[in-house]
Amino acid sequence: TDGVITIDPGYKNTGSCVSAITFLDGEKGILRYRGYSIEELAEKADFLEVAYLLIFGELPTTEVLEKFTQDICAQSIVDEDVRKIVDAFPKSAHPMGVISSLTSALTAFNPSSVNVDSEEDMYNAIVKILGKFPVLVAWTMRKKQGLPLDYGDCNLGYVDNTFKMMFKQPNKDYVKNPIVISALNKLLILHADHEQNCSTSTVRIAGSSHAGLFASLSAGISALWGPLHGGANQAVLEMLEAIRLDGGDTKKYMAKAKDKNDPFRLMGFGHRVYKNFDPRAKIIKKAADEVLSDLGIDDPILNIAKALEQEALNDPYFVDRKLYPNVDFYSGIIYRAMGIPVEMFTVMFAMGRLPGWIAQWREMRLGKEPIGRPRQIYVGETLRPFTPITER
Ligand code: SDX
Repeated sequence: TDGVITIDPGYKNTGSCVSAITFLDGEKGILRYRGYSIEELAEKADFLEVAYLLIFGELPTTEVLEKFTQDICAQSIVDEDVRKIVDAFPKSAHPMGVISSLTSALTAFNPSSVNVDSEEDMYNAIVKILGKFPVLVAWTMRKKQGLPLDYGDCNLGYVDNTFKMMFKQPNKDYVKNPIVISALNKLLILHADHEQNCSTSTVRIAGSSHAGLFASLSAGISALWGPLHGGANQAVLEMLEAIRLDGGDTKKYMAKAKDKNDPFRLMGFGHRVYKNFDPRAKIIKKAADEVLSDLGIDDPILNIAKALEQEALNDPYFVDRKLYPNVDFYSGIIYRAMGIPVEMFTVMFAMGRLPGWIAQWREMRLGKEPIGRPRQIYVGETLRPFTPITER
């Protein structure tokens, strides 16, 4: 206001906007979407129901949800030219790079900016990306596995169809597994929004230049990829696997996590906002127990995760820093039990977060927010004359 610039690395104490979408209380471990508790939504709602709630602000009636679902289903055909791009990737390509590229490719097929004054234009862009993204997610996974792509049947239902496109084996009937579908529905809901996290802030600032919805989402996917953010769910599994292979010596890794000279961090622990249990982690931990026992899986890394959690909850280093398990600590254990490859975990996070990114982008554009353009404090060289290369 008075020309004074304060630097706030990581925006730890900076608010970027006012928002009516998601409420977090980091001290109490509270998370609500449009006023509804995450505990109720995870237990009672459908993922598309929650997507509608986040984006448009109210839980839909049966008729509205049916139309929303049909409009999304109608958009679940992806241009064959985009499918050709999938073919161009080598199997070794990281799925987050593939999905980010495919989302950018969709951008090339859509307007560079959406006319936000037209609710119809905005609605059409929203159902288009919600319809196509699960196809891109499934194709990304099938590409990695060298399997033929499955075009799905969106009359199965959003989450069920996603699972079919990911897992239906060629020349075998698709066998629905209600335990897995219910767990995936819950996981997607738990990831759907989280106020101004790194990737959502990226979507908002990209969109603030009036870049289109798809381009802004592609920027958010890239930010989510980082191991300190959405990439943590993959890093957690790799960490637990490394501990298992190292004889399950959790105490050794706890010591490494506390050693300032050791770059090792206990992945899946700590959070910028939650200084108490991440409410999502509690729900996912319970779901992990249920899914693994329902599927008859005894996964040793679940026991290693629980041992790490117990040790951290009783260790002054973690207690003093209020480091608790976050959303990424147990989610990978469920994805693994579902048969989802570890490199796909962050793509699943992106699929869950898609409605939140859309809702936040729409709120920012409807709020006619100015283009994001922070200032800086310059600490570089003062004015100096150019010296010809012969004199350097
Ligand atoms: C997500 O923002 C969101 O809402 C994100 C998210 C969402 O839904 O969008 O919730 C999803 O990204 C969850 C977080 C996933 N990331 C990880 O699990 C990676 C491991 N966690 C850390 O890297 C860290 O806790 C962060 C990134 C989550 C938070 O970092 P902060 O807030 O910048 O905290 P910090 O790095 O300044 O750490 C504070 C102290 C430091 O020690 P001191 O310098 O005070 O001695 O805590 C220590 C850190 O060294 N610390 C850890 C630790 N996390 C923090 N020490 C060991 N292991 C850890 N995991």
